[in-house]
Amino acid sequence: MKYAHIVGWGSYRPDKILTNSDLARMVDTSDEWIFTRTGIRERRIASERETTATLAFEAAARALVVADIHPSQVDLIIVATSTPEYIFPSTACLVQDYLGATRAGAFDLSAACSGFVYGLSLAAQSIQSGAVHNAVVIGAETMSRVLDWEDRGTCILFGDGAGAVVLKGSSVPGGVMASTLRSDGSGGDMLSLPAVYHNPMPMLGPEYLHNGHKKNTVEMNGRQVFRFATQVVADSVEETVLKAGLTMDDVALIVPHQANVRIIETAAKRLRVPVERFYMNVDSMGNTSAASIPIALCDAVGDGRLRPDDNVVFVGFGGGLTWAASVVKWDVTPPQVSFIDHEWKRVRYVMARGRSRLRRLSRRVEAAVARSSNGHEGDDE
Ligand code: ACO
Repeated sequence: MKYAHIVGWGSYRPDKILTNSDLARMVDTSDEWIFTRTGIRERRIASERETTATLAFEAAARALVVADIHPSQVDLIIVATSTPEYIFPSTACLVQDYLGATRAGAFDLSAACSGFVYGLSLAAQSIQSGAVHNAVVIGAETMSRVLDWEDRGTCILFGDGAGAVVLKGSSVPGGVMASTLRSDGSGGDMLSLPAVYHNPMPMLGPEYLHNGHKKNTVEMNGRQVFRFATQVVADSVEETVLKAGLTMDDVALIVPHQANVRIIETAAKRLRVPVERFYMNVDSMGNTSAASIPIALCDAVGDGRLRPDDNVVFVGFGGGLTWAASVVKWDVTPPQVSFIDHEWKRVRYVMARGRSRLRRLSRRVEAAVARSSNGHEGDDE
């Protein structure tokens, strides 16, 4: 039996900070309203040059340094995101190229804010089945690009960022112990973001393609989402902890999707677990959707909140509706990476981009040669 251990983790947050006071200059709101209703003080916003793929790449590169795995050894890359650059190529393929992960399969996963936990569970099962030896699971979002900045009900909630973990197979018991994945499409209209909106077929009309949306931005019924979230966080944590053969007393830390402090406090009450056992960084990051759990995990490790042999629970919930939880035994101490080693490891990504450009160029040359030889064949005829 193979076990899938988390052996690397990394996160990336854009430099630009947008505070509640900044928002109060954009829409009719206040720092006090936002903070008391959500626990959010500020969030990060991607720069013009940053995309979901560049954020994801930064997080993955950091996680691979901690894991001490060369990108060419990576078997699988999963990017959980609701804000891909394209439907295809997937953001995961762009990350694969930036990393130079030449042997990896890569795909995006769409499960909104539950996407990271879905990806973790799928990657762990791929390792446990022997299909792959390792996998990089990334949650990455540029939510700022899909918000209606005039809608004070949604634009105050979200932010940008990325987090990643590296999973590796081992015969040592531990790692991802149990997962629960759930969905309820009947609640899809509570929280939605249209994807297909270009070139509407004239006979269908724009209403069809916009699914009733006024714009191509996030729409949400906050109160309904709140009720749904508090229910499923508690239920899915309990179910997954039981599946792992543990009790809530065995759980050292719960890293929930960082949507709202009040959702987490209500879930803690339902679970009868002190709220201090939930890790929160929503105050400084806002809701980064699929990226929020891996970013919070990295911050929790940085804050010394996880020790070897601790049981940690990840729990996500969001659009779909989807929800998911995983129990992980945190049992691998990362190697100490020196500054020089770290910098040297980053050089390989520059080299990977160089190789990628060369491959693109050689494809163009091949195509030009093929065109010109076809032309000559045509001349012969
Ligand atoms: N500033 C000031 N007033 C506001 C703002 C704002 N930013 N937004 C709404 N209001 C007003 C409303 O207009 C309303 O005014 P009214 O009473 O005059 O009509 C009043 O505040 C109350 O509005 P509600 O929407 O009922 O406020 P509520 O207490 O429910 O708080 C909130 C709203 C914070 C969005 C809450 O419902 C919530 O947190 N829901 C969960 C949302 C969430 O976490 N979504 C993401 C989860 S899934 C995922 O991550 C994709």
